[in-house]
Amino acid sequence: MIHLKVNGTERKFDGDPEMPLLWYLRDELHLYGTKFGCGVGLCGSCTVHVGDRAVRSCVTPMKTIAEETITTIEGLGRSGLHPVQKAWIQLNVPQCGYCQSGQIMQAAALLKSNPRPRDADIDRAMAGNICRCGTYQRIRAAIKTAAEGRV
Ligand code: FES
Ligand code: FES
Repeated sequence: MIHLKVNGTERKFDGDPEMPLLWYLRDELHLYGTKFGCGVGLCGSCTVHVGDRAVRSCVTPMKTIAEETITTIEGLGRSGLHPVQKAWIQLNVPQCGYCQSGQIMQAAALLKSNPRPRDADIDRAMAGNICRCGTYQRIRAAIKTAAEGRV
């Protein structure tokens, strides 16, 4: 039995320990904000937080997250919108939207570890999050907006 906390709620999981966290979030908890893209850890659309770390849930087996605290896009703004979410809205970042929950979770983890990132820090942190619509300029601007408290 694996015990974990998802968006503030205690959960127990007794299924296949090799099951990816993404499957658990979407198929069992019906948290559909976290997206399936490549399924092999290369696109970032499935990004969630394990503790304060941004991880690719498609390649994170359940057996590796026992006793961990998981936050998805649904839980990020539980007590009001997160500054990154506010900045995303303010700058109209999304286009089709498919990659955006992953982008936001990656950006939120970046600001947690580095509240005032430079351009190079942003580029490095966000490099693994692919946007087929090419919203990269707005993503970078929104991260700066959130970091500078202009939300
Ligand atoms: S779906 Fe997980 S990284 Fe692409
Ligand atoms: S907004 Fe369409 S894939 Fe990023």
